[in-house]
Amino acid sequence: MRTQVGIIGSGPSGLLLARLLHLQGIDTVILESHSRDYVLGRIRAGVIEQGMADLLREAKAGERMDKEGLIHEGINIAFDDRLERIDFPKHTDGKVVMVYGQTEITYDLMKAHIDEAGGKVYYDTPVIGVEGYDTDSPKIIYEQNGQRQELVCDFVAGCDGYHGVSRKSIPADKISLFERTYPFGWLGILSDVPPVNEELIYANHPRGFALCSMRSHTRSRYYVQCELDDKVENWTDDAFWDELRRRLPPRVADSMKTGPRLEMSIAPLRSFVAEPMRFGRLFLAGDSAHIVPPTGAKGLNLAASDIYYLSRAFIAYYKEKRTDLLDRYSETALRRVWKAIRFSWWYTSLMHKFDDDMMTSRLQIAELDYLVNSDAALTTLSENYVGLPYEKFE
Ligand code: FAD
Ligand code: PHB
Repeated sequence: MRTQVGIIGSGPSGLLLARLLHLQGIDTVILESHSRDYVLGRIRAGVIEQGMADLLREAKAGERMDKEGLIHEGINIAFDDRLERIDFPKHTDGKVVMVYGQTEITYDLMKAHIDEAGGKVYYDTPVIGVEGYDTDSPKIIYEQNGQRQELVCDFVAGCDGYHGVSRKSIPADKISLFERTYPFGWLGILSDVPPVNEELIYANHPRGFALCSMRSHTRSRYYVQCELDDKVENWTDDAFWDELRRRLPPRVADSMKTGPRLEMSIAPLRSFVAEPMRFGRLFLAGDSAHIVPPTGAKGLNLAASDIYYLSRAFIAYYKEKRTDLLDRYSETALRRVWKAIRFSWWYTSLMHKFDDDMMTSRLQIAELDYLVNSDAALTTLSENYVGLPYEKFE
């Protein structure tokens, strides 16, 4: 097979890139190791920034999001028996976020790109590696029905997540990796019960962090900080709800509606960056290049900003024979990535319980008390949470 841009992975990064390029007449092929249903079954992010919502509209995959997504003008932070609201429009010149699940975004992109536009996406087709990334015609080596095959491309986009092969196809001396793991995970539940609050609640509690989020007016997504080696099998639904309620202010806990799980899973927390994000004709985007802990709701949004820069670079190349945007991709994307890595690390450090270290917890409460009383600090949090601006290419 041959294509202009070969894309590894059909998560949000790969699908969004394919869709934006297709609308400009650029040919792509996506190779995905899992089935379409498996990709759609993963429950992940829930909060999207305005920049990402605009990009989905540009991809003509934003119609349902605009109908069903929930606009949120703030978040709430619970700490030290207090519940404080942070007003985003007030601190950001009117910016807001949208609550709309990654599962729905992936579904909408698949429908637009595959079912309606006939885009080429091959499922159950694992990529084994990338060859010749430093030549003019790199090859993606993949397996289909047990046979080894090759996809010859002008460019390769490695959108294959943290565990993918594209980053691993680069010799170790050509790539720098930065990583921090955190000594806890998040146990999450998805349940068809109305959310306990209209907006998200992030809670710093002596028993550990908790988050009340949602997918709609009738579907809730809640998380509690857990031990790294904890297992879903250790948790009954009742045990989860009890632990969640213990970590919330009593008036919130008392109005919590509980129900059976639709899904329960544990996610580890990690900060990770690979530099650079471009190797000859191989470009990394999304989780293949960086991971943030979910506290700041930045993972999916960073994938979108990478695709914003990468799609513009490919379009400039095919439409105007320009290579300067491809040359600047890594540097531009990484500037935004590192700021989100910093924000997510800071917010994670502020909100979680670290061992039984009382000094840390007193410092956290002092910082939270300062935060909610300082316009400067509230502006910093709000600007980062709603999403830093995308740099514009001329
Ligand atoms: P992915 O969504 O990981 O997509 C990569 C795709 O590549 C996958 O479909 C994978 O199957 C495929 N692939 C991998 N290897 C190969 C191969 N060899 N050949 C072919 N295909 C391959 N972010 C938030 O903001 N909030 C959250 O609550 C949140 N929760 C998360 C929970 C979990 C368990 C995880 C893993 C992530 C979570 N994230 C969250 C982060 C967010 O979901 C990711 O940032 C986002 O999915 C990145 O999209 P992506 O397309 O870059 O990567
Ligand atoms: C979610 O709804 O899954 C979610 C929301 C906000 C976060 C993390 C996860 O910070």
